[in-house]
Order: sequence, then C-alpha cells, then structure tokens
Amino acid sequence: MSKAVFTIFGASGDLAKRKLYPSLFRLYKSGVLTENFAVIGTARRPWTKDFFEGVVLDAIADLTTSKTEAQQFASHFYYQSHDVEDAAHYHTLKVLQEDLCKRYETDHNKVFFLAMAPQFFGTIASHLKSEAIVDGQGFERLIIEKPFGTDLTSAKALNQALSETFNEDQIFRIDHYLGKEMIQNIFAVRFANILFEHVWNRDFIDNIQITFAESIGVEDRGGYYDQSGALKDMVQNHILQVLSILAMDKPASFSSADVLPEKIKVLENLRMPDDKLIVENFVRGQYQAGHINENDYPAYIDEASVAPDSKTETFASGVFFVDTERFQDVPFFFRTGKRLTEKGTRINIVFKNDANIFSQEVAQNILTIYIQPTEGFSLQVNGKEVGKNFAIEPVKLDFRHDADALGNSPEAYEKLMYDVLNGDSTNFSHWHEVKASWTLIDEVVKAWQADKTPLSYYKAGSMGPRESFDLLEKYGTSWIWQPDVWYRDRD
Ligand code: BG6
Repeated sequence: MSKAVFTIFGASGDLAKRKLYPSLFRLYKSGVLTENFAVIGTARRPWTKDFFEGVVLDAIADLTTSKTEAQQFASHFYYQSHDVEDAAHYHTLKVLQEDLCKRYETDHNKVFFLAMAPQFFGTIASHLKSEAIVDGQGFERLIIEKPFGTDLTSAKALNQALSETFNEDQIFRIDHYLGKEMIQNIFAVRFANILFEHVWNRDFIDNIQITFAESIGVEDRGGYYDQSGALKDMVQNHILQVLSILAMDKPASFSSADVLPEKIKVLENLRMPDDKLIVENFVRGQYQAGHINENDYPAYIDEASVAPDSKTETFASGVFFVDTERFQDVPFFFRTGKRLTEKGTRINIVFKNDANIFSQEVAQNILTIYIQPTEGFSLQVNGKEVGKNFAIEPVKLDFRHDADALGNSPEAYEKLMYDVLNGDSTNFSHWHEVKASWTLIDEVVKAWQADKTPLSYYKAGSMGPRESFDLLEKYGTSWIWQPDVWYRDRD
C-alpha cells in the first residue's frame, strides 16, 4: 500500500485523461492506492473540484461498473487553477498539499507529474523548491514525459534546471516503451534462459533487427511532428532504449543500481558515425499518398499543420554498432515509420549459420520477440521434413500471450506509476542514457539538415523506401519481417 499526494501539472490535458487517471484508478482497484492518497490537478482553467471529479469519472468510465467505487476514487481529486509562472500560485499549492497530507495521512510523500510542454519544466521545478513544496520530508519524486530536450544542448539545460531541485534518483523520465510487457520480457528471455544467455554475443549473433512500424499517420500532431521527425520522435528514445536492453551485459542483479549502469555502458559505446557513415548507414524517408487496407491516405505534406514543402522524415532506418566486447561489429538494424503496412513492433535476433554436415543449406536460427500488437516470441529452428528423404526445413516454436492474460495485465503507465511509488527507476531513462543518445542523434540530424542524405519517398502502406532494404543487402542480409503487402507495393 502506497501513501502520497500526487500533483499533476497539466491536469486538463489529453495525457492526464487518457493515461494518468486510468492508471491511478487501476492502482486504486488493485489496492496499491487505498485511502492514503490525494491528487492535486493543476492547469490554467478555472475548474472547480466538482468539475474536476467529473473529468476523472469520465476518464475511468470504462474501467468499472461500480458508481460508488468510481466516486470514492474521484473524491480524492482536488483542483487548483494555476499559472506556472506565478510564485503566489505555488504558495496556494503548498497550503493545499499540506492540508491533504494531514487529511489523508500521506507521510509527506510527494509525486509530481509534469504532463505539459517541456519549456515549463525548469520554472516549475525551481518554484517547487523556492516555495518549499519540495521540503525534504517524505519521498519526493518527479515524473516527466518525453521529449527530454530537442537536442543535446537543450537536454542539458533542462537537466541542469531540474537538478537544482531534484537529484537524479528522484527524477523518473518516462519512456512508455519501457513499461510494455514484452519489452520488460526481454530481460527474462535474456537472463532467465541458459539457452540464450551464453550465445548472446558476437560469436553467435549475426545481426539484430528492430522494427517499430506504425500504420497511423501524424493524426492531429502535425505541428509537433513536423518539427520533430521520426528520428527524434522514436529513435533517440524508444529504439535506443530497447537496443540498450538487447545489447547490455548481464547485470549483477535485477535492480536499477545494477541494470542502469549496464544500459548506460551500451549507449556510451555506440559507434559515432562520421558524415560518410551517416550517408551510408542511415535512411530518411517521407510517405507519399497510398493506401492501407483499401483506405486511401494523403501524402505527409498534405496532412494538417505540416509545411507543404516539409522535408521532415516520417521514416528512419539505419544501423548502429555497439563497440563493446560482447557486440563489436554486430549490426543492429532499425526502422520506424508512420503509414507503414501495419502496426507492428518486432525484434528479430538472427543467429549465425554454422558449418553443417548436410548436403543442403540450413536456415539461420531466429528468435523473434513480438512486442505489439501480438505479444510473445518465436524461435525458428531446423528440423527434418517428414518423409523418407532426409531434408531439413525450418520450423517455428511459437508462443503468444493469450488475450485474457494480457487483458488483465497492467498497462504501461500503470506499471511505471507503480515503479515510481516504489522508488524503482529500472524502467526509466537515466540522464546518462539521454545524454549519450542525443550525442549520436545530433550528428545524424546535423547531416540530414545539411541534406547530406537525400530524402527518400515511400508509398503509404509500404514498409518504407527501397533504400532501407538496400541497406541490409549491403550487409549481406535482408529484413526478416516483410509483411506481404510490401511486395505488391514495392514497384
Ligand atoms: C510516441 C510517439 O512516443 O510513441 C508517437 O511520439 C508514436 O509518434 C507513439 O505514435 C507510439 O507508441 P505506441 O505505444 O503506440 O507504439
């Protein structure tokens, strides 16, 4: 059972409604939060407590059939209209927080969630300190959302501003992929199976392929996305985080104190590409009009809030190398994009082919980790084809989580909130990880902005531009996952 007063900056926003209130409710239902908690919502709008409770009730409407339970939960929510730049408002906030701390006996524990534009993070953090809302009593934890900066310089400035109020171990930088069931499962697959543990290195692994495909476009986020692009939106954070889990050395224990240094080591050992390597090893693409499942979609430049001459990439692909003893020279291919054939997050670990005694080639062993929408893993192994001739054929050992188990399993945000309450930062991005990933991504961005790599185009509904396929061919391999539609749309 956890005790805390949560203060949510940006309480009227979409994130709070879609993710935070439902996650807090699930924690309430499962008994992690009982009576000793309160939530202060703050935003500019002049809402009343009643109105705020109504917003919370709407947000959790699908999660319960008990009106009483929902109302009891919502009664823990308080609202404070707030201007983040106005010192006087923090004073009112402090009074409310102390009052709630007494009323709900929360032992002075505080969780702050900044669910708003990052340019306000520094101001909020400094007021939290100057108005003694952060006062050193109980635990005090700060949760922030991506993006953590837009490049290394802005990320450093942001970190500096936050670190005047919070220590690194009090800052929880959310990367929602780290809360996904199958991403967390990578730890289990790697470190709970002797079968894999000893072959998880350059001697046995030929290459690793990471695909984060989305079929959606930029929806109503054109304004943000056009300034960001796939590299900053998906690669700097989610893909590099997943890569660090795939490539890390075995930690001494499954605790943040042991896991984080191993992940940091991977990111700090990413090979820095120079301009020549960036041109050779990274692909930037943008979608043109096309169709997915019989539906027609416009080109990216015709989407709302996107500049008509935009060169922003909606697809990024490339290869990273991790210069550690374990993975030296093993290519980690990645690709991510909008309006691809289908939504699918998948990792393929492709093992080397050994000399074999048969008079035919045998397929490579491949371990596939299905992150979403289906969740599970499969292992391609070779067996004998049925019949009197001795022929080898690849077969799949396949496991998928069943829908019922998944339906009842906690959602990413719920898991992450639970970790915050327990002070466990294993599934959050450490500053050193953020710093290392921006260091590399900045180089690619610089080269792309200078147009060193021409922008490639792909049809909505395909799996990205031809150059992404050519890249793997250059390394003597190909994408293992090629949804069928791609063949039809390729030429
Ligand atoms: C977000 C990106 O971080 O992740 C979005 O900003 C993207 O552009 C989303 O759509 C994908 O997350 P998920 O959980 O739907 O795979």
